[in-house]
Amino acid sequence: MIEIKALVLAGGRGTRLRPITHTSAKQLVPIANKPILFYGLEAIRSAGIVDVGIVVGETAAEIEAAVGDGAEFGLRVTYLPQDAPRGLAHAVAIAEDFMGRESFVMYLGDNLIMGGITSFVNEFQKTKPNAQILLARVPNPSEFGVAELAGGHVVRLEEKPEHPRTDLALVGVYMFDETVFEAVRSITPSRRDELEITDAIQHMIDTKRTVRAHEVSGWWKDTGKLEDILEANRMVLETLEGENHGLVDAASRIDGSVVIEDGAVIEGSVLRGPLIIGRGSRIERSYIGPFTSIYHDVVIHNSEVEHSIVLENSRIVNLGQRMERSLVGKDVEIVKSGTMPRAYRFMVGDASRIEVP
Ligand code: TTP
Repeated sequence: MIEIKALVLAGGRGTRLRPITHTSAKQLVPIANKPILFYGLEAIRSAGIVDVGIVVGETAAEIEAAVGDGAEFGLRVTYLPQDAPRGLAHAVAIAEDFMGRESFVMYLGDNLIMGGITSFVNEFQKTKPNAQILLARVPNPSEFGVAELAGGHVVRLEEKPEHPRTDLALVGVYMFDETVFEAVRSITPSRRDELEITDAIQHMIDTKRTVRAHEVSGWWKDTGKLEDILEANRMVLETLEGENHGLVDAASRIDGSVVIEDGAVIEGSVLRGPLIIGRGSRIERSYIGPFTSIYHDVVIHNSEVEHSIVLENSRIVNLGQRMERSLVGKDVEIVKSGTMPRAYRFMVGDASRIEVP
């Protein structure tokens, strides 16, 4: 067995998830109350990898506070600061010293791969190509890097092509041996001024390196935008078994699989799973519907919430109309005041979005 390291990308701009990413790392948005990034770190550990370099940008402090030295995951973590989001291939370039001569799996920190990456890593160790990519068939290939294959080998890659030749999209997990460093040094920035990993892999193909493809078996999600975060939340919640560590009063009703974390209090409410209520949260005279994740210390009072994610310390009070398909950040208040005149009153940050019926 060859020694394998991991490179996890947790920098980036996160423009598609503003305003959440104005103040927080998108990789730490909780899916079923666990940060997205943690699923990736667990998958890496399950594949038998211990040494992990995490590329961090502006949100370095927050990522480091959440992951620490990696011991909690059984990992040894080294942080690799990236001065600006100059592209996935740039992130590889800055990892050269950390990797040394070792092969590595590169994992985009905002991706969720349900079946893990163990078979992907094992296949690389068995077949020893110079690079290996993970592919999935998608209905909208022009939003992804797209691959063309000939007999298990990759012959061409294109980044977000206008007229895709196949429906095989690159999923955010890659494997490389040391020959990738020569490739990332040889390419130049793309039209969007980033060093593209697809260009680096294409360079490997052009210089006769072997690039293999592996098709993803379970579902996966790139959680770069709101709809995908909600969808990932839905998929993960569907796999959870209900358990109650909180307090549910006799006037409340619980249907389906519902996880209630330590110290959460449910009073006079209807909870219809799958859903999760985080520690210290209070649900009072409310309805919480399927596919909802309520994080820590949230208050929901006299309101209806469904298919949504609510982050810590937020309050939703007397909403008057059901809230659905929403992502509510930290320390947010959504309240109905009941005072005259009956008007909307907002204090909303930059790049927010509010939709009213
Ligand atoms: P992307 O989602 O492709 O890019 P982004 O984070 O800049 O987001 P947006 O397109 O909405 O502006 O990045 C995929 C992952 O890689 C994500 O976890 C961020 C990380 N990343 C880096 O660490 N460094 C980089 O230079 C880039 C481009 C991304």
